Amino acid sequence: MNTPLPIAVLISGNGSNLQAIIDQQLRGNLQYEIKVVISNQQSAFGIQRAQKVNIPVRIISHQNFESREDFDDAISITLQEYHVEFIVLAGFMRLLSQKFVRQWKHKIINIHPSLLPAFPGLNAPEQALKHGVKVTGCTVFFVDEGIDTGCILLQEVVPVESNDTVDSLRRRIQKKEHQILPKAIHLIANQRYVIENRIVHLLNHQS
Ligand code: GRF
Repeated sequence: MNTPLPIAVLISGNGSNLQAIIDQQLRGNLQYEIKVVISNQQSAFGIQRAQKVNIPVRIISHQNFESREDFDDAISITLQEYHVEFIVLAGFMRLLSQKFVRQWKHKIINIHPSLLPAFPGLNAPEQALKHGVKVTGCTVFFVDEGIDTGCILLQEVVPVESNDTVDSLRRRIQKKEHQILPKAIHLIANQRYVIENRIVHLLNHQS
């Protein structure tokens, strides 16, 4: 068995995706280990989820820094301290600086509640509902300098029901997010992909 991939999970809020990553780690059949959870919000519920299972937590408030770069430098120091090799954004509501993203090229993933490139940015389930699409979903992608533009690792389709509200649709999408995000980290930890231009080729794709 390989050494588990040391990851950091960055959050800003509820942390249900963090919980899914924690649960899979505790089940012990995936090849990653959360070394530290970083939150830019003191009130994020995800902090309690991590503390409950004794995962180290750092609260780094962006408000304490003059520039995006300074904030990102503080994150970098924590990542070094915990020997992190891969970063997972799980509801982290801050844009990272170009410098940071370049330093971590193809070593940061994010999860987005739509089938990108449809409905990037905020409120994706609401955008999907207003547009009248019949299916939407979620996407795990590698973070690049743009907003939700990075190359796509995994996607899962979610149907839109005629009586859906934004909340019911968001909940249905999140259920799928909780499945594909740990799976994506597992793929990464096992190096079961190759990136060519912006196409992510999955090698021997199995869970
Ligand atoms: C998720 O829906 C994710 O797609 C988006 O932010 C939300 C975070 O939810 N990036 P949670 O904090 O993981 O519950």
